Amino acid sequence: MRIGIFGGTFNPPHRGHVTLARAAVEQLSLDKLLVIPAGIPPHKQLPAGSASNEQRYEMAVLLAGAVGKCAVADDCELRREGKSYTADTLLQLREEYPEDELWLLMGSDMFLSLHTWCRPEVVCRAANIAAFSRCEANERAAFEAQKANLEQLYSARVAILDNPNVIEVSSTDVRSALSAGGGEELLPPAVWGYVQREHLYGTDTDLKHLSVDELRPIALSYLKPKRVAHVLGTERTAAELARQYGVDEREARIAALLHDCTKKLEIDQQLKLCDAYNIDMDEMERATLKLQHSRTGAEIARHVFGVSDAVYDAIRYHTTGRPDMTMLEKIIYIADYIEPNRTFEGVEEVREATARSLDEGILLGLTMTIEEMRGYGTPIHHLTMDARDYLIQQGGTTI
Ligand SMILES: [Fe+2]
Ligand SMILES: [Fe+2]
Repeated sequence: MRIGIFGGTFNPPHRGHVTLARAAVEQLSLDKLLVIPAGIPPHKQLPAGSASNEQRYEMAVLLAGAVGKCAVADDCELRREGKSYTADTLLQLREEYPEDELWLLMGSDMFLSLHTWCRPEVVCRAANIAAFSRCEANERAAFEAQKANLEQLYSARVAILDNPNVIEVSSTDVRSALSAGGGEELLPPAVWGYVQREHLYGTDTDLKHLSVDELRPIALSYLKPKRVAHVLGTERTAAELARQYGVDEREARIAALLHDCTKKLEIDQQLKLCDAYNIDMDEMERATLKLQHSRTGAEIARHVFGVSDAVYDAIRYHTTGRPDMTMLEKIIYIADYIEPNRTFEGVEEVREATARSLDEGILLGLTMTIEEMRGYGTPIHHLTMDARDYLIQQGGTTI
């Protein structure tokens, strides 16, 4: 495997990082790119008002999502005690990936000063060097000279890469733009959303009065990258159904955008939220991650974003359904089930049933869910059974 190593303070990660990472993946044919936020950088202290280590890691995860599938954030430097030196990181990665080809990415300033780093011989032995040139003529000569120097001193293997889509922006510029109320165009959308919701770098967005367009990147910042398309697909489908059935489209979009906002959390984090928000879960909910995210997601929507009770309930019941659902609850339930990225067997039938009537689609969806869970031998929540029975009593049929 060819593995790229992309370190930085990422305070915050910006679009310049995205273009550089993508150029590296392409030009070095990388199979994997590790995005590694620096712990305590040896060269600089973080300026006052900076993101915490945990926040920089969260943003590195979102940066990796913006770069693409092969990129993944790695918190190895944040977990290490004391100052964080590249040589130590590379030695650790060498152990982790003994058979693989490692490429350490760096920009001009770092490359041209590499011989002054801590233990440059270790750095050059552990990894190949991929140096990004700004494509300026005068820099080219300095790059070639440094390449020859490092090859001679440390037997380094150096590749000089071009970043044709270079975005000349520094994290300092980004932070000033953010504190002045701008900067959206400088960040990947989910990172922008994360900065807003964590009120980083002097931003003070009122999360309880957002337009749908303002909420969207913030909602995306809660998701694992692989779930982004699903949530955007759910939003589109919910909006179409809302227009079709005369339901408030804004409410439908908000519920769809937030419906999976706690889906990525593990069970211990879910239970912490349950405590924080006094969520009274039944025994089955306490044992089932899939059921918890509807409960905790609804609370985040209410407490962080101030959504209406109608949106709260649509999120709360999007996994189980319930008898006598409101129109908004039905729309979110079925939009989640049939949005365009869903490909499971039978989804086309549910789409066709939904096109005939919302209740028919939901009844088929509930029935298929119940059958599937029976097949796996997993317990079925009573609300799902009750929701199906209610629709049958109303004269619904799945045939
Ligand atoms: Fe969900
Ligand atoms: Fe979902």
